[in-house]
Amino acid sequence: MKILGIETSCDETAAAVVEDGKRLLSNVVASSMNLHIQYGGVVPEIAARSHIELILPVIQQALDEAKCTWIDIDGIAVTYGAGLGGSLLIGVLTARTLAITHDKPLYGINHVEGHVYANFLTKTSLPGYKLRSQQPVFPMLAIIVSGGHSQLVLFHGHFDYTLLGQTHDDAIGEAFDKVAKMLGLPYPGGPSVSKAAKKGDPNAFKLPKAKMDKYDFSFSGLKTAVLRLAQTEIGQTHTFPSTGLPERLSEAQKANIAASFQRTAVETIVDKSLLAVKEFAPNSVVIAGGVAADQELRRQLTDKLPLPIEFPDLKLCTDNGAMIATLGCFKMLHNQPTADPYTLEIEPNLSM
Ligand code: KG4
Ligand code: ZN
Repeated sequence: MKILGIETSCDETAAAVVEDGKRLLSNVVASSMNLHIQYGGVVPEIAARSHIELILPVIQQALDEAKCTWIDIDGIAVTYGAGLGGSLLIGVLTARTLAITHDKPLYGINHVEGHVYANFLTKTSLPGYKLRSQQPVFPMLAIIVSGGHSQLVLFHGHFDYTLLGQTHDDAIGEAFDKVAKMLGLPYPGGPSVSKAAKKGDPNAFKLPKAKMDKYDFSFSGLKTAVLRLAQTEIGQTHTFPSTGLPERLSEAQKANIAASFQRTAVETIVDKSLLAVKEFAPNSVVIAGGVAADQELRRQLTDKLPLPIEFPDLKLCTDNGAMIATLGCFKMLHNQPTADPYTLEIEPNLSM
């Protein structure tokens, strides 16, 4: 069974073909990131316009690389939320049209749930992928860390999960992006803060961790603490504008702030994950979302968790069509309801 997955929730126009929920046949990602860098973040109108230009060639390339024609495709899975409205609309309208014209079942996919399913891919003949050796076993703790979400979710089985906790304000990826901006590091902040952190001392500064209910998070206080720290480091008060910081901070100060922030943010996630592992004794732990690419997060999880953890390929952490196609496969395998291709609507604020 082969599913075409389509993902356009933010700035990546992505399509992939996955077989039987485990074999990656193709994974094509085109990003409009270069168009957004000068603005320091994704500009929704530019992202949507770029999706319009890229979506059909990206889908065709995904079919070609999988050596498939439409006859070989058993269904279409598309992200319908959460995400940017204009961006989601392009993917959903394209998928609806293709489902009607090629007479294929259509599955609407929750983007965040999709991220988790990147962990179910175990086989591929595509070059350059390092996939897990086996699919995770339930009960499974999912640590979801992306630009829009920070959540701990306990999966009892497919389509049967409990949200243990989530952020009350910024997501961890958002905090990385905002700290990058304060330090004058390029967007997206995750990779650039990680890179700067490599040259810094993670214990240079003690930053506060928010005291939240058991499995909940808050990253906005940490972000403000970084701002105050940077202002203090250059001998200024809290009224000094954050836009003036990059030119006043030395490279060493930036590196130390980046490393201390990264350690603290990651520790928050890892400490609560450890708590959840102790309470629920899952058979597997998976990480999902863009920040799952972070090496410090991987290092701390490997060090602290009492069970081995297999990490998804870096290319499957940030947004991609493969994770959407994989979840689509499981929807078909488990007879989950299909979406009506004449009426499927986007849901920009969809949650788990
Ligand atoms: O999952 P994703 O691609 O999009 C959302 O669904 O939000 O996550 C994007 C987030 C951004 O905040 C980006 O800064 C972060 O993931 N990110 C990273 C890394 N690569 C991307 N954060 C830390 N380390 C990375 N290597
Ligand atoms: Zn995402």
